[in-house]
Amino acid sequence: MASIPLVVVQLLLLLLPLPLREHLWSSQHRRNDVDAGELHPIIVLPGVACSDLEARLTEAYRPSAARCGAMKGKGWFPLWKNSSDLSTHRYNECFEEQMSLVYDPVANDYRNFPGVETRVPYFGLVKGYHQKWPFDKPWCLTPLIRALEEMGYRDGDNMHGAPYDFRHVPPVPGQESQVYSRYYKEFMELVEATSKRHRKKKVIILGHSHGGCVALEFVRNTPLAWRKEYIKHLFLVTPTLSAGLLDPVENLATGPHNLFYVPGATELSLRPMWRSFETSIANLPSPAVFGREPIVVTERRNYSAYDMEDLLAAVGFGDGIEPFRRRMVARMNYLEAPMVPLTYINGVGKRTPRQLVYWDGNFDEAPERVYGDGDGIVNLVTMLAFDEEMRRQLGQRGQFKSIKVENASHMGILMDEWALKRVMKEILEVNQDSS
Ligand SMILES: *[C@@H]1O[C@H](CO)[C@@H](O)[C@H](O)[C@H]1NC(C)=O
Ligand SMILES: *[C@@H]1O[C@H](CO)[C@@H](O)[C@H](O)[C@H]1NC(C)=O
Ligand SMILES: *[C@@H]1O[C@H](CO)[C@@H](O)[C@H](O)[C@H]1NC(C)=O
Repeated sequence: MASIPLVVVQLLLLLLPLPLREHLWSSQHRRNDVDAGELHPIIVLPGVACSDLEARLTEAYRPSAARCGAMKGKGWFPLWKNSSDLSTHRYNECFEEQMSLVYDPVANDYRNFPGVETRVPYFGLVKGYHQKWPFDKPWCLTPLIRALEEMGYRDGDNMHGAPYDFRHVPPVPGQESQVYSRYYKEFMELVEATSKRHRKKKVIILGHSHGGCVALEFVRNTPLAWRKEYIKHLFLVTPTLSAGLLDPVENLATGPHNLFYVPGATELSLRPMWRSFETSIANLPSPAVFGREPIVVTERRNYSAYDMEDLLAAVGFGDGIEPFRRRMVARMNYLEAPMVPLTYINGVGKRTPRQLVYWDGNFDEAPERVYGDGDGIVNLVTMLAFDEEMRRQLGQRGQFKSIKVENASHMGILMDEWALKRVMKEILEVNQDSS
């Protein structure tokens, strides 16, 4: 129809019977674009380490080195925003101490280091996402946000961010988390407020990687009636699900890989800080999906998904066993569908670690990796298990779409133009569907 002037099309349409006319007109009218005023508000969540953290040091703070107390009593300051100057200020070890969490076995929850208060700034705005890792193309959703702006979305109006404290793990229903109870409440208020400002339109939520895991748990923690009233659609793009993947195993064993930019620090030197985070023990491979296949291979012993507690001990993190047992096992086994329209988008066809070989049992050095299929980070088996689970549950089956984008990587899916286009097409379609 592209070559026929629009006015002619309109005239032709007028000659048609009314119901047909409306049908054709609306499909013609909406084919390429959606009026910005008609867009469903969208809330987007990027992966780990894109949200910032601010800290305040109280009198109770007992720094391990005197200079770390320099900000005591001086109010809020950006603790985790741009770390390139940390070493200039000889703040590396102070940063690591002030970022650390402590597991509280009485509450079965994680807390800040004593005397350190933290908060996540810019709640509600995508402007709050900052990439800390300077050596890559921007992966904190920058290209996606640009594409959404082209579609008519505006930060703080019909597009929002929901930055989160990535050190904590979003709990499944029934689990305690002081940090996430507050976060889920704020998130619900954000959804309600933006829906109200946009003629009660339902809201789209999109989460990438760890942000997908946060988005999923958020939705699953809301009352069912609330979801039906407010959620138009949930997009999970390469989410790191609790069925597990290999990446957390390596980060836990050898230190966080490409996550934290702290000048002068090595993965190994960041390992104690990383292990203090609840996130470090999340999404380890689950027995239901990885079965008895060896995940970590050493000369003396192999570890399968059934042996994660022994592996924690073997890598020198016995302290992780209790929170793993008391907080993570329930997450692995929580399979309830979110019961909202859901599109699950993944990359496949990329070499993805399936087994880590620490032959001489030295976990301080990078392992040899044996590869399988996936998006480079998330294993195909994990994706297929989620597909199967969503299709098995009656209330979800009819509103579940799974898309596997050949050759798209975990990050590339929202960064490479051709792959991003595929995702944008889905977002556009959801906006065109007026139901
Ligand atoms: C971080 O700070 C450094 C030095 O102040 C600056 O050169 C760099 O552009 C900043 N990075 C970002 C992502 O803002
Ligand atoms: C560990 O797994 C590897 C690879 O699957 C296998 O070849 C080896 O025999 C296993 N070793 C032990 C000690 O079970
Ligand atoms: C994926 O990449 C491989 C290797 O570069 C190529 O041979 C294949 O045609 C690609 N597949 C698609 C669907 O683009």
